[in-house]
Order: sequence, then structure tokens, then C-alpha cells
Amino acid sequence: MNAPASREILVTHALPYANGPLHFGHLLGYIQTDVWVRAQRMAGHRVHFVAADDVHGTPIMLAAEKAGVTPEAFIGAIYDGHVRDFAAFGIQHDCYYTTHSPENRELAEQVYKRLRDGGHIAARSIRQLFDPQRQMFLPDRYVKGICPKCGAPDQYGDNCEVCGAAYAPTDLKEPRSVLSGATPELRDSEHYFFKVGDFAQLLRDWLGGKLSGGEPVMHASVAAKLREWLESDGGVRDWDISRDAPYFGFPIPDAPGKFFYVWLDAPIGYLASFKHYCESADGAKAGLGPKTFDQFMAASARAPVATTERATEMHHFLGKDIVNFHGLFWPAMLDGAGLRVPDALHVNGYLTVNGEKMSKSRGTFVMARTYLDAGLDPDWLRYYFATMLTAAPVDIDLDLKAFEERVNSHLVGKWVNIASRCAGFVHKHFDGRLAANLPARERSLFDAAAQKLSACADLYRQGDYAGVVRLLVEVADEANAYVATKAPWQLAKDEGKRDELHAVCSFALNQFRLLTIWLAPIVPGIAARAADFLRETVTRFDLAATPLLGTCIGEFSALTTRIDPKRVEAMIEASKESLKPADEAANPPTAKPATARPAPAAASAAADTSAVIGIDDFAKLDLRIGKVLACDLVEGSDKLLRFELDAGALGKRQIFSGIRAAYGEPERLVGRNVVFIANLAPRKMRFGVSEGMILSAGTGGDDLFLLDADAGAVPGATVK
Ligand code: 2FM
Ligand code: ZN
Repeated sequence: MNAPASREILVTHALPYANGPLHFGHLLGYIQTDVWVRAQRMAGHRVHFVAADDVHGTPIMLAAEKAGVTPEAFIGAIYDGHVRDFAAFGIQHDCYYTTHSPENRELAEQVYKRLRDGGHIAARSIRQLFDPQRQMFLPDRYVKGICPKCGAPDQYGDNCEVCGAAYAPTDLKEPRSVLSGATPELRDSEHYFFKVGDFAQLLRDWLGGKLSGGEPVMHASVAAKLREWLESDGGVRDWDISRDAPYFGFPIPDAPGKFFYVWLDAPIGYLASFKHYCESADGAKAGLGPKTFDQFMAASARAPVATTERATEMHHFLGKDIVNFHGLFWPAMLDGAGLRVPDALHVNGYLTVNGEKMSKSRGTFVMARTYLDAGLDPDWLRYYFATMLTAAPVDIDLDLKAFEERVNSHLVGKWVNIASRCAGFVHKHFDGRLAANLPARERSLFDAAAQKLSACADLYRQGDYAGVVRLLVEVADEANAYVATKAPWQLAKDEGKRDELHAVCSFALNQFRLLTIWLAPIVPGIAARAADFLRETVTRFDLAATPLLGTCIGEFSALTTRIDPKRVEAMIEASKESLKPADEAANPPTAKPATARPAPAAASAAADTSAVIGIDDFAKLDLRIGKVLACDLVEGSDKLLRFELDAGALGKRQIFSGIRAAYGEPERLVGRNVVFIANLAPRKMRFGVSEGMILSAGTGGDDLFLLDADAGAVPGATVK
């Protein structure tokens, strides 16, 4: 069965949480997605590539609180870092948005109301642990205690890291809140559940469907796992989609104090990004418009399962730890809301580094930025990942030695080498112009290679980038063997062999060009430099069918270099240096496998208490003494106090500080000295502008103590 000549495809990748910078674990899936998008475009298909930051939920709310900023300010800073890193790694979305958007709120409400009106939402009361001090229900990972099975102390509320037992947080002995240390109480609360089981038949049919090109909706092993869950005893269970206030998320309509669980609005965020794009100026430039979104998302836009005609397609890329959300809850939600279900799930495995879980102490928990700062080319990592990625959701190991060797051998030794050995002769003897024709033998060698490489289109579509690389290496080896046999450096010595020299170099450069065209989705940066050298824009795979002849090429300059092992070492060292203790309150380790979803790095400088810094870093802080002129409770906030400080030469400063639990009688603080950061960017809060940050010691909540200065310190004095 052949895929339609031109397809229109919406592509997404899993949305990163807005609780820390991008790291290698993220990059594996995002690079896999971007390569696919580029390859489909080069194959002539129309692709809309959208994603967003996934910004809701308790961990992000607490991380913001810990950093002393609003959740909006917190996620804003993370967003900027993500966008910068995506761009550096060549991951080019048509729209990169946030799940905290008006479109997402509207769509989440719409989906929910349609499910509710269709009778697919149930409300019932559940018992949960509640932190009486923080006045909030505690997610499982925010409770610790003694394992009920083996007695190990200090275990999380969902499973024991010592004996592996899984249990409910209420089973823990001597439970305590990770947030405040208080003993949690059991309280009842009404929750809303989505009755996923109502869609069991839809899911069964969907799992057995096929794409128009004949490929399955997902890898067989993923479908098997989903069927296992679907057909488990009692069927798939109702899914709890609500959380109680306080929660950073969208309020549930007609349900005061209840919010959508982050996993409800996260995948809807795919649609919100696409909607935003359709309605944007960029979308208009791409031929989309305000009506496109509704047309695209209509259930009828997707032909019935297992048929061959598709008007448009929706593909999601994700890690294997989140297939239940994408393979059960998500299609059921969409169908229940009268929207199209996804056409394909592309699932990747976990990432290990040097054969082990990514580890901060070994320096293998590497941030995208650390890699870039070490002077390593993003295309090298893209290439290395591609050499191992297939459609199967198998784990991928980033062996740093193999990384160096493969990049050096393949990209420099096999590919760039062809051009570097021939380009000089074309300039020296033929004014930089390629031969107008190839001799019959060379032409048939070219056609054979072009034919062989045309299989790459299908391999890309199937996600088999490892297969693409194998073919490319084969053709590169043949081209290098040809050059070695013909030895243009010998031919160049003989005036009588100019035509032969021209033919040999022109043919070899055409082999280089063929490889460049098929490599472009994987190494777009280097391929763009190669295209500059060839003076040809690489946009379509079909350019590979005919050789480039009679045109001028540019001067050759190194398109990429060998990896300097010192840079890899520097990256590892820098990753060790940036080791930060997990900020347990804001980011309790997730229950997911650490290889795929390592506990996020501390999300802010405020959460980082022990990383080693240089004196220059310290010097960036302008710490000052402030004398408290006024200190009040803040109406509408149960955490903040408003300070007015006399900051000497700096004038007066207004600062909001989250220490109310520790200082219930703010008027008693008037007249004393505090230490504050004077050069922190002013922050607009709901209550006014905060012009700095007051320092205090302690773990938070009521365990906070303001710093003081001995008598004699004057307002505005510098703290060093
Ligand atoms: O697991 C995660 O990292 C989630 N932030 C992925 C969300 S994907 C989608 F559903 F939004
Ligand atoms: Zn145990």
C-alpha cells in the first residue's frame, strides 16, 4: 500500500515540564521528532510542527513559591531557556507555546464539558493525606515515612526504593509531609473521574488501525502493552482528573476549589498550540487560518480506522513512560469530545549514558546548555542519536567514546572527506565548475547510488534513522573507495588527464551531494554549510534524482571538525560542577524511571543551596542592609508580608516576602535591620512591584529566620 503523494500532518512531541532546563533525556525525543518533520517536508509533505511548555501542577507551583516568584514569572523564565535551547539544537517548531494559555483553557473546558454532558465524568469522594500546616492535600510523592513492608525509613508515599513494594501513602508508617514535616491528616475530598472504560471498544479498534502508508498506528510492542492495560481485570479504571486548591492550573467549571489535573490539559496543549498557530500571522503565511483548526480537529477529518484515505493526520512523538496517557486517556478524551483521535504514536525508549542511568555525580546528567557551552556541535548529537533510533521503543545508550568515534569516522572521515579530497582540483583546474556531463560508467554509478538511497524516504517515514545511516555509510564507503582507486592527486600531475580528473572529481562531489541531501534532516546545520559550498539549496529529496553538472561550487572550508575529546571531558566536568541537590519540596523525584525522567535539576538559583560558585558569581549579588520602615500583612495572600525598607543611598524599597507563617506579627519587625538583594530584577506581582528579595534562613513555612546585622550597620550598607 502506498502513502498518498502528499500528506498534511500535525506533529507534536511530549511537552517538557516548566521546572528545569532541557537535558539529554529530553533531547533524544525532540531530535527524533525534528528529524522526522524535516524528512517528511523534504519528501514533499505539508507538516505543522507544534509543541509547548507543560506548566501546570503542584511541583511547578511549589518551585515558584520556593523561588519567591509567581508561577507565571517562574514559567516565563523557564520558557525562555527552553526556546533558546530548542533553537540551538535545530529543533524548529512552527509554534512553541505554553499550556497556560487562553486557548488551552478554553479547549480544556470544552473537552471537559463535552465529556461531562456525555455522561463520561463521575464525581466521588476520596480519602487523601492532607498537610494541616500547608493546608493542602499531598500528592503521593510529597509524603514520606516508614515502608509498611520492609520497615525502611524515609520512603515515598507510592513505593519503597529499598524493597520495591508499591502501596498507598496512607499505608506508610509514621507519615510526614515533605513540605512542612507535619504529620498529615486523612481528609475526604470530592474528585472528578473520567470513565475511560466507556471508550474501550473505540480504543480496541484504534489500536488495530493502520496509516495510509500501511504502517501501524504504533509499534506492535506499544500496542500490546496498551491492550494489556485495556483488557486487565475489571478493564481500564476511571481516571482522576481533578485536584484540590491550592493548585497551579485551570479551574474546573462549576466546581469551586477544583482544578484540572495537569495531565488533563497537557495533551490538550498540543491542540491549543496548533490553534494559536492557525490564528497567528505565521499560520496565515503558511496558508492556515482561523477555520483551519476546527476543520482539522473534526472527527470526520480522519477517515474511519483501517481505511486508506486520509485527508490529514495527527502524529504524537513521546517517551515510553507516558504511553498510557497518549494511548488510552487521550484518544478516549478526544473521541468523547467529538474530536479526531491521533493517527500515530511514535514512541522512544529511555536514554542511558555510558551504559548507566544519567547521573549527576558522574557528570552524565547533561543539560542541553552545558553541551553547547563546551563547544560541541548540536548536529553531532543529532547524528549520534540518529545512528541508533528505529521505530522500536528500545533504550538508547549515549556511549561518549562511541559518540566521538562515530562522528569523527562517519561525518568527517567518510562524508566531508569526499568533498575535501576533490574540491581543490575543481577550483585549481576548472575554475570551480563541475563537468557538464559524466562518463557513462560514472553516470550509472550515480544512478545506482541515487536509487539505493531513495529507500531512505521510507526508512525516515518509518522512523528507522539507523537504517538511513547504514545506507548512507555504505554509499560513502563506495565513494571513498572510488576516489582512492582513481587517485585524483595522481591524475592532477598529468596534463593529458584533465578530462578524467574533471569527471572523477565531479562524480565524487555528486556522491557527496547525494549524501548531503539525505543527511539534511539529521544534521541540518552542517548540511546547510555543505549546500552553501555546493551553491544549491537543499529542500527536497527529489533533487537527488539528477546530478549537479556544469555549475560552479564554492571554496571548500571545513564543514565540520573532529570532536576534540577535551570538550567532552569539559562537558562532563561542568555537569558535575552544576550538580544541585534536589529541591525536594519543589521537585520530589518522580515515580518514573530515572533514565527517562530524571528528577529535574533545581529549577532556580533560589533552590540551589550548595553548588560551587566562583567569587565572580558572588560579586554579582548586590547584598545590602535595609532598615524596616513598615511591614504589613498582604490582603489576598496568606504567605506574603509587604516590607518597606530604608535602603540608604538606594532610597526606599518595597519588597514582598513569603515569610508570613514565620512572622505572624509583622509590626514587630519595624525598626530592625534585614539583609536583602538589591539588584534583583523588579518583579510585578498581583499586589504591587517587589524590588528585591529579603534573605532568611531555614527550610520554609514557619521555619524561617530573618538575618540581622550587628549594631553599627547602616541602611544601604553593602554586605560582602
Ligand atoms: O512527562 C512529561 O514530561 C510531561 N510533561 C509530558 C506531557 S506530554 C503532553 F501530553 F502534554
Ligand atoms: Zn520497603
